[in-house]
Amino acid sequence: MNNIKNMKRKLFFVLLMVMPLCAMAKQVVIQTRSLSLVINANEGHQPRYVYFGQKLSPSELEALPAPVSGRMDVYPPYGMWPQSAAAVSLRHADGNLTTQLYLTEVKQEGDKTTFTLKDPQYPTTVNVYFLARPDVDMIETWTDITNGEKQTVTLLQFASGVLPIRRGEVWMSHLYGSWANEGRLVQEPVSQGIKMITNHDGARNSHTDHAEVMFSLDGRPQELSGDVIGAALCYWGNYKLKVVTDDTEYHYFFAGIDEENSEYHLKKGETFTTPHLALTFSKEGLSGVSRNFHRWGRKYMLANGQTERKILLNSWEGVYFDINQQGMDQMMADIASMGGELFVMDDGWFGDKYPRKVDNSSLGDWVVDKTKLPEGIEGLLRDAKKHGIKFGIWIEPEMANTVSELYEKHPDWVIKAPKRDLALGRGGTQVVLDLCNPKVQDFVFGIVDNLMTKYPEIDYIKWDANAPIMNHGSQYLPMADQSHLYIDYHRGLEKVCQRIRAKYPTLTIQACASGGGRANWGLLPYFDEFWVSDNTDALQRIYMQWGTSYFFPAIAMASHISATPNHTVYRTTSLKFRIDVAMSGRLGMEIQPKNMTEEEKDLCRKAIAEYKQVRPIVQFGDIYRLLSPYDHKGLASLMYVTEQKDKAVFYWWKTEQFQNEHLPRIKMAGLDPTATYRVHELNRIDLQPLSCEGKTFTGAFLMNHGLEMPYTHNVEWGKKNNWSSRVLLLERN
Ligand code: DGJ
Repeated sequence: MNNIKNMKRKLFFVLLMVMPLCAMAKQVVIQTRSLSLVINANEGHQPRYVYFGQKLSPSELEALPAPVSGRMDVYPPYGMWPQSAAAVSLRHADGNLTTQLYLTEVKQEGDKTTFTLKDPQYPTTVNVYFLARPDVDMIETWTDITNGEKQTVTLLQFASGVLPIRRGEVWMSHLYGSWANEGRLVQEPVSQGIKMITNHDGARNSHTDHAEVMFSLDGRPQELSGDVIGAALCYWGNYKLKVVTDDTEYHYFFAGIDEENSEYHLKKGETFTTPHLALTFSKEGLSGVSRNFHRWGRKYMLANGQTERKILLNSWEGVYFDINQQGMDQMMADIASMGGELFVMDDGWFGDKYPRKVDNSSLGDWVVDKTKLPEGIEGLLRDAKKHGIKFGIWIEPEMANTVSELYEKHPDWVIKAPKRDLALGRGGTQVVLDLCNPKVQDFVFGIVDNLMTKYPEIDYIKWDANAPIMNHGSQYLPMADQSHLYIDYHRGLEKVCQRIRAKYPTLTIQACASGGGRANWGLLPYFDEFWVSDNTDALQRIYMQWGTSYFFPAIAMASHISATPNHTVYRTTSLKFRIDVAMSGRLGMEIQPKNMTEEEKDLCRKAIAEYKQVRPIVQFGDIYRLLSPYDHKGLASLMYVTEQKDKAVFYWWKTEQFQNEHLPRIKMAGLDPTATYRVHELNRIDLQPLSCEGKTFTGAFLMNHGLEMPYTHNVEWGKKNNWSSRVLLLERN
C-alpha cells in the first residue's frame, strides 16, 4: 500500500517536473521537509497562491480547494484595476503606466521553480523564483525584471514578493529601536488599513525597524505553540515591508526595496534582480519560526555558519581611542590569561598626517599611527602570538572624514548632493564614500586586501559603519540617474563584499554599524556575526537579544561582558549577571581587564572555560524562548537544545527585584520527554549548590513541571546585590 502511495507521489512530482504547461489549471507544489507552498498556474493568467503552510499529503494536495476570495496573484503589476496594491509598477518607454503580466512558462529544476510572466503588449519579462531549502523549511522568493523594449523603462515599484495571509486573528511581531536600544520587540494585531515598516538610513538597516516579521495566525503570539509565518527580506539598504488590509478575506504582505526616491531606469536589455525574501512557517509558535530561521541562516546564509566562534576581548569600551602598543599588549595578556582566544583592536590605531585621536579625523587613511604603535601591526601580531591568541582589527571602510588625506586627494569620492554643501556626520567631519563609483569600490576592497596581504595572520575584522547616507547625491552617477543612489550604493558594497569573500572566505568579519545597525540576512553571507548594540548593559541586553533572537541565531550575536556603571545607561549590574547574559550569545569581553579585581578575573576565567563547554550548544542549538521579558513577570528565560536533544543550556534572568515577590516556575521545552538529564549549574557563585545540582530529571518532568530557582544568591553578606541569574547545563544520562 505504502509502495503504491510512494509511486503515486513520485509520479506526481515527476509530472510536475517535466509536464509542459497545458491549458488546464496546473498545481505547482513547492515543498520542504515540513512545508508546502501551492500555486495554481494557468497559461495566460497570473499564477495564483492556493496554499502556504504545514506540508500536505498527496491526497490533500489532490483535493486542495482554491481560495474562493482574495487577490491571490503571485506578482500583481500596477495599472489595470489600480485600486489594489501592486508588487511591480513601471513606466514603459512610451509613457504607458500600465503593465499586465501573464504566465508563459513554469520550470521546476531541482529545488528552484521559475514562473515566467510576460506583458502581451510590451516585451517586458518578469521571472518569479521560488527556491526551496527542503532541509531547513525555508522558501526564498525573488524576481528578475527584464526590459525588452527598445528604450529605457522606469521601474517605479519592485517588490521581492507578495504573500496573501488569510484573515482571522493575525498578529504581527517585529523589531524596532534606535542606537543603543536595538532589536526591541513589538507585537500588535494586524488590522484594517496599511501597516508599513521602512528603513531610510541608506547605508545601515536595523537601527529603526527591522526587515523581518512574524505573523501569528491564531491570535496573540505564543512562543511555543500556534501557527506562525516568518518573513525576512534579505536586503541591507532601504526597504519596505507593507501589510495591506482592505475589505477582502486576506491581508496582503509585500516586501522589497523601498522605491521611495529610488525609481530605477532600466536600459534596453537590462535585468533588475530584487533581493530574496525568505518565507517560513511553523506550527510550533514564534520559537519554531526562529529555529527555522536559525537553521537556514547557519547553513545557507551566514558566513562560516558551521564554525564555532572564538571568545574575544574588544578594546573599545576598555580604552576607546587611547590605543598604544603597551596597552594592547597588556589587554592581550589579560584576555589570554582568562582563556580568551582573540583580541580585537578597535578604533584609534590609524592616521599619519591626521592621526585619529578622537572621532573627527582620519577615516580613509588606513595606515598605522606610528606614534601610538611604533612597531606597527607586526608588533601587535607578534605579541598576540606570544600570548597564544589571535589578533583582529577595526576598520570603517565605507567612510571618510573631511580631515583626511583621502578626502584631500579625492573629494569627488564622497556622497554629496549637487549644488549643496556637504552633509557632515560623526565628529562634524564624517562623510560616506560613494560606492556607486567603481574606483571607490576598488579602494574599499583594497583596504581589506592590503591589510590581509601585508598581515595574513589577521584573524578578524570589525567592519564598522557610523553614518547614514546624509544627503541624496552621487558625484559619480549622471544627473538623470541620481535616483539610483541608494540601490547602486548597495550593489557597489555587495560587489566589494563578494570580492572579499572570494579571496578571504574564512576571515572572521563582524558587521558593526554604530552598534546594531546592520542585522540583516542580506549582509550575513559576507559577515560572520554582528554587534548587537553599543549598549552592553546586561538588563537592557536581555530585551534587545530577546528580540534579535527572533530572526538571528546566537552564533551571529556578539554579546560582551563590560564594565559597570555601564557606559550608555550607567546601570551597575553584578558581574555574574553580565556574564550570564553575555553567555547566551557569541561570548566576548568589552572591558579594561587591568581595572578588574583578581576575583572578577577568576569569575570570568571560569565563565570562559564553561562557555567553551557549552559553546556548540549555544552556537548551533535550537532556541526555545520560555518566558519573555516583555511579559513583565520579573523574569526572562530561554534555552538552547542540541539537535540530538542530548544537551541543553537553560538561562534564567531576573529582570526585577522586590521583597516577597512571586515569580513563575519555568517549564522547560525542546527536551526528549523520555530521556533523563543531569543538571549542573554554570558560573556558580553561591556558597551552597542548588538543590537540583547533580540530580537527574526526566525531560517530561522538566517540561511539565520545571525546576524552582532561588530568587537570590546565597553569597557572603558583603557580596549580596540585587541581581540574580542562573545558567544550567543539562546533559542526557
Ligand atoms: C561604533 C561601534 O558600535 C563601537 O563598537 C566602536 O567600534 C565605535 N564605533 C568606534 O568608533
